[in-house]
Amino acid sequence: MKILIYYFSATGNTKMLADEYKRTFETYGHEVTLRELSGCTPPVVSDIDAFDRIGIGYPIHAFNAPRIILKLCKALPKRDRRAAPKNVFVLKTSGEPVRMSDVSALKMPGMIRRRGYNVINEYQYVMPYNIIFRHTDEQAFRMWETAKKLVKVDISEILQDRRSLPRKMFMGGFLAWILRIEHWGAKILGRGFKTNSDCVNCGLCVRACPANNIKVKKNGKLKFGWHCMICMRCVFKCPKNAIVPGILKNWKVNGDYTFACPEQPSPPTKHDDYCKTAYDRYYAQAEEKINSEK
Ligand SMILES: Cc1cc2nc3c(=O)[nH]c(=O)nc-3n(C[C@H](O)[C@H](O)[C@H](O)COP(=O)(O)O)c2cc1C
Repeated sequence: MKILIYYFSATGNTKMLADEYKRTFETYGHEVTLRELSGCTPPVVSDIDAFDRIGIGYPIHAFNAPRIILKLCKALPKRDRRAAPKNVFVLKTSGEPVRMSDVSALKMPGMIRRRGYNVINEYQYVMPYNIIFRHTDEQAFRMWETAKKLVKVDISEILQDRRSLPRKMFMGGFLAWILRIEHWGAKILGRGFKTNSDCVNCGLCVRACPANNIKVKKNGKLKFGWHCMICMRCVFKCPKNAIVPGILKNWKVNGDYTFACPEQPSPPTKHDDYCKTAYDRYYAQAEEKINSEK
C-alpha cells in the first residue's frame, strides 16, 4: 500500500509521531511519503490519486486544528464523484489529556467529504513537548513509550479499515467553535512577540517560522508581522531563550528531552499534580487499548 502523510508540527511532537507512523507502516511492508507543511500558502496537492491512504497530522491548538490544516483540506483536489471516497486518517497531538480536544477535527470531515475523502480514523496522542511546562524525564519517557505502543494498535486498525472516531460532544464542539477565534486572535497576539537583549541575531527563528512572519529590520532587530499562528516554534527553537511571546510570556518551554529511560527517579516538580487525574485516565485507557490488541 502507498500511504501519504501530511503533517504540521511546531515544536516537534507531530513530527516525531509522523516519523513513528512511517517507521511502523514500513515494518509491515508499506511505502510511506511524509510531507511536512510549512509556509502560510496553501499546500499544493496534486498527486494524491497515486496513494491508497492519506494521513493528516497536526497539533491541537485551542481545541482546534491549526489554520494551515484547514488550508490543506481546502487544497485537496476534488475527486471523481463516481469513485469510492479515499480513506483518510487523522493524527492529533496534544499537550494535555483533555477530552474536549477530541472535537478538534470537527470541521475537517465535512470539508473533505465534499471533495471525495472519508475520515474513518481519528487518533489523539498526548505528547511530551508542551508550551505550558516541562515534564519530568520519566513522564516524557512514559508518554512517548505509550504513544509508540498506541501507534502499532492504531496502524493495525487503519490497515483493516476499522472505523475509529471519537464520540461526538455537542457542548465541546460549540466551545471549540468559539475558540476558533484563536485563528484570528493569533495574528494580533503575534504582533506582541519581542526579543530580549539575549538575542544574537542568529536568524534561526526567521528560518523556522512556518508563517514567514519574522523579518529582520534594517537595524538588525526582528519584526513580528501579522501572520503569526502562535505555534510557538520560534520561542521553542531559540537557542538563547530570547523571544518573549507578549502576553503569552509564561508559555515557553525550551530544551529537548532525551527519551531515554531515566536511571534515577526525577525529583517531584510543582507540576506533578497538574491534570493528574486526566493523565492517569489517559494511561489507563491507552493500556486497555494496547492490551486488547495483544
Ligand atoms: C497555541 C496553542 C494552543 C494549544 N492548545 C491546546 C489545546 O487546546 N489542547 C491541548 O491538549 N493542547 C494544546 N496545545 C498543546 C499542543 O497541542 C501540543 O503541545 C502539541 O503536541 C504540539 O505539537 P507540535 O510539537 O507538533 O507542534 C496548544 C499549543 C499551542 C501552541
